[in-house]
Amino acid sequence: MAFVRLAGEVAVIAGAGQAPGETIGNGRAMAVLFAREGADLVLIDVDEASVAETARLVEAEGGKARVVLGDVTTEEVCAEAVRVADEEAGGLDVLVCNVGTNRGDGGVTSVDLAVWERIMALNTRSMLLMCRAALPVMRRRGGGAIVTISSAATRVSLNQIAYKMSKAAVEQATTAVADANARHGIRANTILPGLIETPMGVDQQAPEVGMSRADWAALRDAKVPLGRRMGTAWDVAHAALYLGSDESRFVTGVTLPVDGGQSLRVG
Ligand SMILES: NC(=O)c1ccc[n+]([C@@H]2O[C@H](COP(=O)([O-])OP(=O)(O)OC[C@H]3O[C@@H](n4cnc5c(N)ncnc54)[C@H](O)[C@@H]3O)[C@@H](O)[C@H]2O)c1
Repeated sequence: MAFVRLAGEVAVIAGAGQAPGETIGNGRAMAVLFAREGADLVLIDVDEASVAETARLVEAEGGKARVVLGDVTTEEVCAEAVRVADEEAGGLDVLVCNVGTNRGDGGVTSVDLAVWERIMALNTRSMLLMCRAALPVMRRRGGGAIVTISSAATRVSLNQIAYKMSKAAVEQATTAVADANARHGIRANTILPGLIETPMGVDQQAPEVGMSRADWAALRDAKVPLGRRMGTAWDVAHAALYLGSDESRFVTGVTLPVDGGQSLRVG
């Protein structure tokens, strides 16, 4: 029998829907892959139709999906997702903090302050609150794996100050969680996706930069050292599966670039 990496485990994914577009998003791909590997899912999102579609795909894989609808920058929604995992699904083994945006971002002097505050809050507060809600349950249960989603944007030239600041904060907060909770058997690691062909990265951003989807995708492809092609959400999902499963049982506090070598390019 094939080795099933998350058999009998419960995984919570914050941001399990996706922006509309031609390809699969990171959160949805993780949910589908985790279900294939035997996990029961608790899926959180503000977008009812989109998270329902993820739940449908999870169930098509033979998995079980429970949906918590709401905003993960509020304590109530994070607490409810953890309660559903613990009391209804029977545990909380893996938490993925996937919610994040760079929408409307700009440089230090050009960014709109309200936009800066929105991006900072969404990207950092969601991760903080999800971890605050999940950690007591993971400690009580004697372990767990937290996977946060930063971005290779923290390593490359990019005129997006709120995104860079917020994702750098996510990386630091993840190492703090890892450090403080290792004695409880809890691991915390961050993935740095690079240029990924998701609706968030391509379909949503093309109009923002005033380009067609095809031209924007070609520009992103050209920046990737490995094969001159963007990654896919499956590449990010496989990294999340590794960091969420016992295969990485001795790995904590790391930042794992999944970027086709983009962050290696300096100068
Ligand atoms: N696509 C890329 O090229 C790329 C690169 C680097 C990092 N990332 C990171 O990947 C993550 C997202 O990937 P995705 O493809 O799943 O994105 P996505 O935007 O398609 O999906 C994220 C989901 O989060 C939901 N969401 C937004 N705000 C929420 C809130 N307050 N509460 C609950 N749900 C909320 C959205 O409704 C959406 O369904 C982000 O953290 C992003 O910064 C992406």
